Amino acid sequence: APKPLSLKVDEDEEAVIAAGKTKVTIFYGTQTGTAEGFAKALAEEIKARYEKAAVKVVDLDDYAVDDEQYEEKLKKETLAFFMVATYGDGEPTDNAARFYKWFTEGNEREPWLHQLTYGVFGLGNRQYEHFNKIAKVLDEQLSEQGAKRLIEVGLGDDDQCIEDDFTAWRELLWPELDQLLRDEDDENTASTPYTATIPEYRVVVHDPAVMHIEDNYSNRANGNASYDIHHPCRVNVAVQRELHKPESDRSCIHLEFDISGTGIMYETGDHVGVYVENCFETVEEAAILLGQPLDLLFSIHTDKEDGASLGSSLPPPFPGPCTVRTALARYADLLNPPRKDEYSKWVVGSQRSLLEVMAAFPSAKPPLGVFFAAVGPHLQPRYYSISSSPRFVPNRVHVTCALVYGPTPTGRIHRGVCSTWMKNTVPLEKSHDCSWAPIFIRQSNFKLPADPSIPVIMIGPGTGLAPFRGFLQERMALKEDGVQLGLSLLLFGCRNRRMDFIYEDELNNFVEQGALSELIVAFSREGPQKEYVQHKMMDKAAYIWSLISKGGYLYVCGDAKGMARDVHRTLHTIVQEQESVDSSKAESMVKKLQMEGRYLRDVW
Ligand code: 2AM
Repeated sequence: APKPLSLKVDEDEEAVIAAGKTKVTIFYGTQTGTAEGFAKALAEEIKARYEKAAVKVVDLDDYAVDDEQYEEKLKKETLAFFMVATYGDGEPTDNAARFYKWFTEGNEREPWLHQLTYGVFGLGNRQYEHFNKIAKVLDEQLSEQGAKRLIEVGLGDDDQCIEDDFTAWRELLWPELDQLLRDEDDENTASTPYTATIPEYRVVVHDPAVMHIEDNYSNRANGNASYDIHHPCRVNVAVQRELHKPESDRSCIHLEFDISGTGIMYETGDHVGVYVENCFETVEEAAILLGQPLDLLFSIHTDKEDGASLGSSLPPPFPGPCTVRTALARYADLLNPPRKDEYSKWVVGSQRSLLEVMAAFPSAKPPLGVFFAAVGPHLQPRYYSISSSPRFVPNRVHVTCALVYGPTPTGRIHRGVCSTWMKNTVPLEKSHDCSWAPIFIRQSNFKLPADPSIPVIMIGPGTGLAPFRGFLQERMALKEDGVQLGLSLLLFGCRNRRMDFIYEDELNNFVEQGALSELIVAFSREGPQKEYVQHKMMDKAAYIWSLISKGGYLYVCGDAKGMARDVHRTLHTIVQEQESVDSSKAESMVKKLQMEGRYLRDVW
């Protein structure tokens, strides 16, 4: 449920008007924090440049409790910027979804935003099919609904250096904003160069002898509260095992979180968000680079202690006091590339992590307050498509996770934070002192058809199999309840049956039990030629199209840039050949399937 809005907002609004200032609202739609960071950086710079600007940074979800309030409040905005990311299959971020749906679906209305001047900056990746779709659509819609575009929509590309795109967009913005926000008497200061200030928390060091340290991840026993990204639930790892066979030189982990007694609910096809900690070696290295002892007990504070201080560029500080060890483990994304400055080659190109950058400049030891302002206040949660069905395993959330491990151009071995953690977990099966993590559920629309007699085609190579294992568990449970199941086809792909044919026995069992009608596997590294799921699709073209024509659903899960794109092209070809239509007709038929929710993708 959305957080209730505090009364403070209206009081602030009056103060803004009374002071003769111009209100500037900067909205963000963020998934991993980059858009939020950009929103805050923009706010700081506007504040520093323009005396008369009263700037506010707003999470799109927190802005309004319902559609009516969105409308009411948006009508009062006069100058607003939108920093919005596009992710996955051209979707808005979770915190922008409600706003986006309301705003774009209301496009029947008469132009009603004449009072508003706006700018949109998008965060996306050119490798994906729907590059910056959300920013583009929002920009168009704002204009169509009557608002005045101050600046062309910015299309940030994460595949290159998105910071550079943001900087370039801002350079175009200042001359426009000068016209709106510069006071006459500022005229002579117009050329004063802007210098960025470095955000910093205030640090307090505590005496461990007199402090009681609390573990702030204990679960809330609050009956009506539900767990979400801001309120994860601490759960144990019940089961952990390797899915790859001994001959494989890679690793894929099956993990089960025990959710019994927590009140966590999920549906087949949902995602689980997992917060983990950096591993000890990483923490230790960071402490050395910072020149701080691991046991130092400290807390961080913003100047306005309410934390959510309006307009502050700093996120609320993490709960303290805690040791440097805990803070580095939980609250600092140490293995991501650092975010700012001139670096597209040296950092991004060479995939240098923050730790590597610090190691290259050993004399630079930022104080803790500066350090956590730059890298905190949290490790981002990692999302996994849940590989189980609650009907089949009521008290468990299963995850299927490929280990991220490999050399970078500088020769460092990159270890994925969450997958490495999962690989190193100790399950409850093995020890009572087992591993645990704070988790929460993210709903998805990747769901089986409500009517189980409708045919389903599932395409998921590698860990793209995850949600389909959930689907098949669900069909198994339905079957045990005596429900009649429609036809189903699973196309799975892996390198070699002796190495990475994950869940092989289970999949065969689904077939034997009748939960799955047919299993087709493409082995890419067994024969002289690569065999991929899309080749198997072509072999089965007529059958696949006959199932879809009968109202069947097509699901694709896995890598968006390679596999999902190729599968999409193959589907297009199949439609064209089977229906004997031209390319554009085939495209509109595929679009129609998508619109009807019968061609669904869970891609990353
Ligand atoms: P490869 O690594 O041998 O190229 C799971 O990762 C499986 O998906 C592997 O067998 C992998 O094959 C295969 N794969 C890689 N790229 C693909 C693509 N573009 N389309 C379909 N499958 C692909």
